[in-house]
Amino acid sequence: MPHIKVSPFDTAKIDTAVGDFIKFRAVGSSSAKEIVLLSDKREFFLDIVKKEGEYLIKPNKITKGSDTELLKDMLNRFANVLGLDILHSNTAPKPFKPKNADEFFKTVEDFYEFKSDFKNIKLEVGFGSGRHLLYRAQEEPETLFIGIEIHSPSINQLLKQINIKGLKNIFVVNYDARLLLEMLPSNILDTIYVHFPVPWDKKPHRRVISDAFVREALRVLKKGGQLELRTDSQNYFEYSLEVFSSLKQSSFKVEKNIDIPVVSKYEARWRRMEKNIYTLTLDSLSESKARELKIDFTLENCNTNTKIPQESIIKEDFFVHFGKKYTRTDNKGFVVECSFGGFNTPEKKMIIVGEKCYYLPGNPVKSLVNYKAHNIIREVLNG
Ligand SMILES: C[S@@+](CC[C@H](N)C(=O)[O-])C[C@H]1O[C@@H](n2cnc3c(N)ncnc32)[C@H](O)[C@@H]1O
Repeated sequence: MPHIKVSPFDTAKIDTAVGDFIKFRAVGSSSAKEIVLLSDKREFFLDIVKKEGEYLIKPNKITKGSDTELLKDMLNRFANVLGLDILHSNTAPKPFKPKNADEFFKTVEDFYEFKSDFKNIKLEVGFGSGRHLLYRAQEEPETLFIGIEIHSPSINQLLKQINIKGLKNIFVVNYDARLLLEMLPSNILDTIYVHFPVPWDKKPHRRVISDAFVREALRVLKKGGQLELRTDSQNYFEYSLEVFSSLKQSSFKVEKNIDIPVVSKYEARWRRMEKNIYTLTLDSLSESKARELKIDFTLENCNTNTKIPQESIIKEDFFVHFGKKYTRTDNKGFVVECSFGGFNTPEKKMIIVGEKCYYLPGNPVKSLVNYKAHNIIREVLNG
């Protein structure tokens, strides 16, 4: 991560440099750490960590984003404007190097208003090595495939393969598939593949298949579309059978040890061990109502004197935890760290409270758990 070490200086001089790209300074309770809001192409905080003999200045982890070159440039500008005495830095710019198949790497936000020219769209949850997804995408160039994974190395591996194979019909998303489904419009998918999900025998709440997941899957599947689950776990098979059977109107088929055109890494392992492999195929029988995501993350009328709760607020399916608070030296309010949302998909933001009140970096992902958490955060900040 880019950073600069400088000789100790009077941080109050930052306040006199507030203007174009330096917005304000805020001080933590111990005053050993201060933060400074910078704004150019995007807004983020710098952390100033005061140590004996030197101050470390680095982009704040929560708000930094991924554009390292922009961060370096802003750090250098900050040090120049203040005339800081630099002891060490790693902020020399590097020439731009294009990354592999980045155009196919999508964020959750790309799916809010998702539209596609592809007639058929298929999605794979937890593609792992990507063997199945790559095979299908090569076989069906007219179909768009969306691969969702929570494991970053698998994402990078797939992006490399997309590049090597010159594929143009795979989108890759690094997110929890259970939440991504919530964000997709209704009736758009032809197939959802869930192959060899982690059985999570000891932590069933982490399973991909659940009543809620299957309900969302049926909503996003077109009429006639299918959810294909393959598992080697007898326990997971029986559990999924129960979930599928409890649907009001359902039609599904169960098969054992069938051959499919491509054998994934996991499947190959289970086959060598002569394990039974179950395939459950659930049909979408009807058209679903259009999805309206009426989720608004606006924070307004925040009270700059509100009391921030010390204790975490824990509800059945989400939580809110306020962390460190920083007082603005312009006397216009404060900044508070906040973690919130689903237990498996927590969001971490800095919340700026002042004339304007907002989340940095940007609003949370539009999931229902985040929205429930946001309503609590709003209540606290309006307090
Ligand atoms: C046992 S592996 C199977 C991989 C692949 N489908 C195969 O058959 O070889 C399960 C994969 O699901 C991913 N995974 C687990 N939970 C997930 C979730 N909620 N959303 C997306 N991916 C998930 C894991 O990171 C892992 O790569």
